[in-house]
Amino acid sequence: MRTSELYASSPVRAALGRTLRPGGEALSRRMMVLADPEPGSLALDAGCGCGATLGMLRLKGAKAFGLDLSAAFLREAGGDGHAVARADLASLPLPDASLDLVVCECAWNLTDKERTLAEFSRVLKPGGMLALSDIYTRGYRSGEWPLRCCFAQATDLQTVMEQMAGAGFEIDVVEDHTPLLKKTAADFVFRHGSMHGFWQAVTGDEDLAAAACAASKESKPGLFLLLARVFGK
Ligand SMILES: C[S@@+](CC[C@H](N)C(=O)[O-])C[C@H]1O[C@@H](n2cnc3c(N)ncnc32)[C@H](O)[C@@H]1O
Repeated sequence: MRTSELYASSPVRAALGRTLRPGGEALSRRMMVLADPEPGSLALDAGCGCGATLGMLRLKGAKAFGLDLSAAFLREAGGDGHAVARADLASLPLPDASLDLVVCECAWNLTDKERTLAEFSRVLKPGGMLALSDIYTRGYRSGEWPLRCCFAQATDLQTVMEQMAGAGFEIDVVEDHTPLLKKTAADFVFRHGSMHGFWQAVTGDEDLAAAACAASKESKPGLFLLLARVFGK
């Protein structure tokens, strides 16, 4: 199953709506409060999905545009009048030091993470801000996740901090929003009877569903939100 198929699947869309990830609009609103983009500032939503956060950035007066790999999600975002284009976050079609803000919500873990962070660092102006939310792990799991999803390449927070520093970022704020992840999981259970039921509905495969539940139990996923500024390596 390809990543975009997983996020486009009806069990995921029915539970998550236009924000294709745990935390929903509540987490994006918190991100907007912290990042507080200036009117007229140039902002990228990296892995914009259906464009829900592009709307929030535009309400703040930012000149916002989105990049994503999925043609279907880009059509949805474009249909709402957002400026979007297809690109891999690990190879941004943007000039150096051109952006004030990069927002990336549950897309980083799906990419070539080191290259993507290096690209965010390259395209931000000195002092420019990265607002990043994604899954992290609180447990240990050896071996790969059975599915390509935002849990698969998640690491512990210490590793995230080291990767940020390695790409030239200084952290301003880190917040733990794991309760929002638990709320999303509870919604999946409510709709499908259990997490196994949810994964079974998404994948149509008993073995994959069992493997996803086991992987989740071992890795103990959490949800972080961080803001960081780039000052060069
Ligand atoms: C979990 S969804 C989150 C979408 C959106 N940020 C949101 O909050 O609703 C992850 C998104 O990242 C996109 N994506 C995955 N890998 C990508 C890559 N290498 N380059 C660009 N987009 C990518 C997917 O197509 C999907 O839209």
